[in-house]
Amino acid sequence: MNKDGLDRRTFFGTITAAGLGGATLLTSSSLVADEPIQSSESKRFAASYPVLQNVTENSASVAWALNVPSTGWVEWGPTPALGKVARNSEFGLNPFESDFLSARIIGLAPNTTYYYRTATCSFTYRTAYDKTASEPQYSDVYSFTTCGANADTASFYIMNDTHNRIQTIQEHLRNAEELNSDFILWNGDLCDFYMDSGYVKKFLANPNDKPYAAERPVIFNMGNHDRRGSWARNLKKFVTTWEQDDPKFYPLGFNYAFRQGPLAVVVLDTGEDKPDWHPAWSGMANYEPYRELQTAWLAKALERPEIKSAPYLVAACHIPLYSRHITANPGNILDQFATIQWPCAQQWGPLFEQYGVQLLVAAHLHAFGYDEPNESRSWAQVVGGGPDYEKNATKMFVKADSEKMTLSCAKLADNAELGTWTFKPRS
Ligand SMILES: [Fe+2]
Repeated sequence: MNKDGLDRRTFFGTITAAGLGGATLLTSSSLVADEPIQSSESKRFAASYPVLQNVTENSASVAWALNVPSTGWVEWGPTPALGKVARNSEFGLNPFESDFLSARIIGLAPNTTYYYRTATCSFTYRTAYDKTASEPQYSDVYSFTTCGANADTASFYIMNDTHNRIQTIQEHLRNAEELNSDFILWNGDLCDFYMDSGYVKKFLANPNDKPYAAERPVIFNMGNHDRRGSWARNLKKFVTTWEQDDPKFYPLGFNYAFRQGPLAVVVLDTGEDKPDWHPAWSGMANYEPYRELQTAWLAKALERPEIKSAPYLVAACHIPLYSRHITANPGNILDQFATIQWPCAQQWGPLFEQYGVQLLVAAHLHAFGYDEPNESRSWAQVVGGGPDYEKNATKMFVKADSEKMTLSCAKLADNAELGTWTFKPRS
């Protein structure tokens, strides 16, 4: 891995459509649109465009915000004619929600393009039998391409610690679009806290009044702030969790492992930034067994053939797992808060070594930093900047092809270069 000296201004300025994996940029106007969401009508049932998440080799999920209590579904298919329906039904009941709807599309083929639109029906219950359903309102038809090893390149844009700063979020999304990344990794501390659905609707579902993730999937990773507030437990109504095929891992929902072209990515959840027994949590934290279960999940995920055989392997989590400072707060003491998540580092670090993780993408410190591998650590760690657009927000972009994987980092506000590092394919 060498800092190759590429000019970040030039690099960010000359990226063109990658034309792979993630979004196939099908303009909304090019297809049938019964009732576009972006409308001046006051009776729109949906409060956001569809937000595509969790696109894997064989599945994808879609969530959207609501203006009124509604039911809804996703229509999808291999052509713009759609033809299939996905609903988030539970135990025989179709969904009825006030804030968000979602649906999971399954049975997809790898590296294949699909089309979809959302349908939203306002629904009013007066009594058990006396109820009114509206005609559906449809989003435009969008497309996405599933992940899979059969792609020449892979790329993703990293944003983190946005802490409900709207300018920072909007600038990040503008950059992700400009770079045409396959997907976005929103690496935690999305907002400060959650006392109701308001922040999610404003900052995550509809931050720029554009379909920012209708075709370019977003991975919302959890930061410590994302567990705070009475409504935090409802975040999964919008941030759709990943389904686990092994019952042992059913308690996990924010752990992701997937292969896109030459790149494999594993995403881990470091949890809160103080120990479970810290008085700040008033007995409401239980991250120790959660982290241990993730360790078992990680060991299994890294054995998956498509992950193990990937030319490049990147891990991501919110709180860093390494610090060059010997006095770094390890997160398991009463004083202050974690600057590294030492319990996770102890459990996950050896697996990173064993399976050849090349780069860990972290956040949390609100200060950019990059640490090369050293004698005791075979993986590099990059830490993204903070929420302040002018002062500390950074943009990071990873792109991989058959020859190299490149990590490019710059300040968000002025594009000033922070560094570019390249990684050779794993042997
Ligand atoms: Fe954080």
